[in-house]
Amino acid sequence: MSNSETSYTWHKIFSSEEEAKAQVPQRQLKQLVIDGHSICFAHTFAGFFAVQDACPHLGHSLSKGNYLNEVICPWHSYRYNLDNGKECDWRTRNAISYPLKIETEGLYVGIPVISKEA
Ligand code: FES
Repeated sequence: MSNSETSYTWHKIFSSEEEAKAQVPQRQLKQLVIDGHSICFAHTFAGFFAVQDACPHLGHSLSKGNYLNEVICPWHSYRYNLDNGKECDWRTRNAISYPLKIETEGLYVGIPVISKEA
């Protein structure tokens, strides 16, 4: 039986919230590669978000797109909700959404742990 709770390994991506804001100004996107996962990191008026960088449609880099609380793929303009990765018009599967947390030591992204249990 599978456990529905996801566990994560947490990776520091910035040493502080201020460093994140300096490197990724508001309304900007940045591609990060963490533990082999290519991630689109977004700084919006609502805060920081992280979704998979490869567009679920045909793989274009979402970090090269635009957003308005969504990331808009520059290739075919599919739109993904930054909060949960859902494609806004149900045209393709959803993007993976990565949790973020801000600690006193820095800003961390959670990479899901894949269970090796059968
Ligand atoms: S590759 Fe992103 S919408 Fe087609």
